[in-house]
Amino acid sequence: MNDAPSTRTPTLPDAQTVTSVKHWTDRLFSFRVTRPRSLRFRSGEFVMIGLMGDNGKPLLRAYSIASPAWDEELEFYSIKVPDGPLTSRLQHIQPGDQIILRPKPVGTLVLDALLPGKRLWFFATGTGIAPFASLMRDPDTYERYDEVIMMHTCREEAELEYGRNLIESLPDDPLIGEFVGDKLRYYPTTTRDDGPGDGRITDNLLSGKAFADLGVPGISRETDRAMVCGSLAFNTDMKDILEGFGLTEGANSEPAEYVVEKAFVD
Ligand code: A2P
Repeated sequence: MNDAPSTRTPTLPDAQTVTSVKHWTDRLFSFRVTRPRSLRFRSGEFVMIGLMGDNGKPLLRAYSIASPAWDEELEFYSIKVPDGPLTSRLQHIQPGDQIILRPKPVGTLVLDALLPGKRLWFFATGTGIAPFASLMRDPDTYERYDEVIMMHTCREEAELEYGRNLIESLPDDPLIGEFVGDKLRYYPTTTRDDGPGDGRITDNLLSGKAFADLGVPGISRETDRAMVCGSLAFNTDMKDILEGFGLTEGANSEPAEYVVEKAFVD
């Protein structure tokens, strides 16, 4: 027997170590990993992360960074797709395991892609809340806006838990609490159970129910800015609704009144 380290032991490129994992439901989990020292990102951006595939090639998917830019670790929030090539394996990671993380953050859900305004809306379905978990913990969000409204819709109550936990902890958070103050408002709904409020975001905007519940006059180009992250169908419907309210889509290169990004699913 030769005790020398095997030269065939694969060395993961861009390896980061898992520090914690939390399973929220059968379908959802979040995890934290070490952060590469050199990684700088803007809250709301995403990176490619993954595992080494059986064929020796990295199996990578886009994941929004759910932690804020000031956090010394990185947090991600993921769905578990039963036959998903990556998430069927990723859901079994444990603290101490390694994942691959390509340190090249990109994305349009950044504050710089919006023109100044008074009220900022975050619209998310499912795991689309991940980039907003980052932005809701960024002091800059509260320095730029008087009011921030997080609307999140899931099928069932239990799927809201990750977001709810985070949002309820923010006002008392020693680092970010004073910035959040009473500026952050939360409007969760479910569509397939008897949750706290019912219905799709799209329906609640079009009917005016959300505005009545929140006591805001509506969405207008003068005062309101929006970020959208969910399924393709949700994003498409939200674009139409926001354009209907008179908002135009912005980008890093050309800031405007709303931005959209797909919640990446396996
Ligand atoms: P619904 O239950 O009515 O389909 P999913 O788990 O399929 O990604 O859905 C997450 C949430 O997003 C569900 O509450 C779902 O509502 C809602 N949803 C899906 N598509 C749309 C859409 N086009 N507009 C608004 N909400 C949507």
